[in-house]
Amino acid sequence: MGKKHFYDGLGDELRAILLSQIRNLWSHSSTALEGNSLTLGETAFVLEEGLTIAGKPLRDHQEVVGHARAIKLIYGLLDRDAIGEEDVFLLHQAVLTDRAADIYRPAGAWKKEANFTSAIGSDGRQFIREYPSPSRVPALMAEWLTRFNHFYRTGGMPWDDAVKCYASLHLSFVAIHPFFDGNGRMARLLSNLPVLRAGHPPIVVPTSLRREYLDSISGYQNTVPGLADLSALEQLPENDASRQFVALCRDFARETVALVDNAFALQKNLTKDNKC
Ligand SMILES: Nc1ncnc2c1ncn2[C@@H]1O[C@H](COP(=O)(O)OP(=O)(O)O)[C@@H](O)[C@H]1O
Ligand SMILES: [Mg+2]
Repeated sequence: MGKKHFYDGLGDELRAILLSQIRNLWSHSSTALEGNSLTLGETAFVLEEGLTIAGKPLRDHQEVVGHARAIKLIYGLLDRDAIGEEDVFLLHQAVLTDRAADIYRPAGAWKKEANFTSAIGSDGRQFIREYPSPSRVPALMAEWLTRFNHFYRTGGMPWDDAVKCYASLHLSFVAIHPFFDGNGRMARLLSNLPVLRAGHPPIVVPTSLRREYLDSISGYQNTVPGLADLSALEQLPENDASRQFVALCRDFARETVALVDNAFALQKNLTKDNKC
């Protein structure tokens, strides 16, 4: 029987430190991937002290604070057996902090307008990739949530299965691209829920692997014919590109696993000292 949470067995103080280290790393990495200028140290300072960094944009501060709030919501969902659309919307509202009142760019609702990225095709040329249209999103996301909740209820998955589950949920979420913005951060939050529920630490994409991460997602999307017309998740293939993304996700997890190992190693030493 695996642990219920990755931090079970740690004393209160070490557990609190580990959880804030993971929150800092996750919030920093996920926002830095999208252009946030705060360093890990600055992010930790903002989140732990509630103070600002001179000369850095207000928006960057709000973004890491919003992301940290979303992580809190994520931990709060771990005792539930399933999550629904409304939970996803609440997370989106936490993540999307720079929202101006604009009905075409909603926070806490699916996208209202088509969205695109510029990508490099398998022929090495640039092209514009169109994601599934807003009219397809509610049905696709209902299917995504059914798939998600199946994994979620499975509970105690071994590590290798948890990584595959994270990779599959992540790839399908960003292929649907259901929000006008925040899709990357939401994919990296939501796909970790089954991982956490299985008793493992979250998988955090390191900023040093940004290029590999984006190239792998884009390379996979190049293998999906007619992405804009996607109408069911079974049209998303499992292939060499998706398996390459799984392998990358296995690498991503190294940093949080190291933080957890350090905390337990410290606790073991303390216990030994106390026995002398
Ligand atoms: N060229 C690309 N091809 C496919 N997916 C991409 C590409 N660029 C970015 N992505 C995915 O979309 C995410 C960015 O989408 P976006 O809605 O802007 O989310 P966020 O605001 O959290 O960055 C990236 O993190 C990545 O997961
Ligand atoms: Mg964005």
